Amino acid sequence: MERVLSGMRPTGLLHLGNYLGALKNWVDLQDEGYECFYFIADWHALTTEYADPSQVAYYCREMAIDWLAAGLDPDRSVLFLQSQVLEHAELHILLSMITPVSWLERNPTYKEIRQELKDRDLATYGFLGYPVLQAADILIYKAHYVPVGVDQLPHLELTREIARRFNYLYGNLFPEPKPKLTETPKVPGVDGRKMSKSYENAIYLSDSPQVIWDKIRPMVTDTQRKRRTDPGDPERCPVFDLHRAFTPPQEREEVVEKCKTAGFGCIDCKKILYEHLIGVMGPMYEKRKELEAQPSLVDEVVLEGSQRAREAARRTLEEVRGAVELWRPSTEGGAE
Ligand code: TRP
Ligand code: SF4
Repeated sequence: MERVLSGMRPTGLLHLGNYLGALKNWVDLQDEGYECFYFIADWHALTTEYADPSQVAYYCREMAIDWLAAGLDPDRSVLFLQSQVLEHAELHILLSMITPVSWLERNPTYKEIRQELKDRDLATYGFLGYPVLQAADILIYKAHYVPVGVDQLPHLELTREIARRFNYLYGNLFPEPKPKLTETPKVPGVDGRKMSKSYENAIYLSDSPQVIWDKIRPMVTDTQRKRRTDPGDPERCPVFDLHRAFTPPQEREEVVEKCKTAGFGCIDCKKILYEHLIGVMGPMYEKRKELEAQPSLVDEVVLEGSQRAREAARRTLEEVRGAVELWRPSTEGGAE
């Protein structure tokens, strides 16, 4: 069975953009019968949140709940927490020995995020080494595919380069993981800009139906449709981008028609969107409420998943230790 691995940084609550751009694809891959490993990258979160890590644990828990509510199934996928699998750290240190600093310094994501988060001091060893830890995350499971967005391609390329270098130095051990590019639909926030927690324009998976409606109702539309009687253009309207993701094609055609002919008002149009949005998000919200009422069940899922991940990680690490040929003083019975 082909193995898929991916991770998310717990630096905020998951919103519709994260759902459509990543989580939904993860669920699909699970349903397509891949052997899936999905993890909460809390060490990676610390690379930018180290000065105030107080929210990271909270976001980890909420992320686990969102995943389960969205349909990730712990019986079919291995759902785990990075910091519970110390083997990632051991592989990370070994990979760090063979990774040239110049590869890390020219990484475009590194430069971009340092620009974006100018308020934080990211001149740290951990932040520079982010892609090395990511390579360890992926290679320790010998993953074949890594579902990611285009923004992660440079990191994945680095992982492949590090794998190649390891294989060259110590013998062929790691397959080179391939990206599984997920089609990223355009998901605007309620102000029409890209949905993002930092723009405060997001609709969260944890929002109640009432909150969702309160966000959709005043949402920006085609700014040139000023009056109810003005015809609009769905191509200029962020509400319509959400229709594309949630409203079935036939009804979407009717929306186009009525918008262009001023056959209905924007509030009517948003009500239709809301109904379809709730068709998907309502059951997730209900499932979330159930899970919130059973905190120990969520703990158990994550701990059991981490245990399973650890077993797989250990197998690779055994081979890695052998390949690097560090002295392993033997004890009777050959314990580690
Ligand atoms: N860097 C990824 C992101 O920001 C998160 C991540 C960490 C990851 N380790 C990974 C993704 C391994 C895929 C595989 O989205
Ligand atoms: Fe946008 Fe719908 Fe209003 Fe047209 S009717 S401008 S698609 S909200």
